[in-house]
Amino acid sequence: MYVCLCQGVTDGQIRDAIYDGCCSYREVRETTGVATQCGKCACVAKQVVRETLSDV
Ligand code: FES
Repeated sequence: MYVCLCQGVTDGQIRDAIYDGCCSYREVRETTGVATQCGKCACVAKQVVRETLSDV
């Protein structure tokens, strides 16, 4: 599903960024561009990052 409509970032892309080595929300944001425009997706994006990091 799309987490960030402004940048077209899906939850799968966020997970992939973490599997590829990102280890914080900030790194995921820099890598995928998630939440870099309106910022409305930040809450959900952070949640996906947190969930993914806890099961890597
Ligand atoms: Fe992610 Fe707007 S929906 S920055």
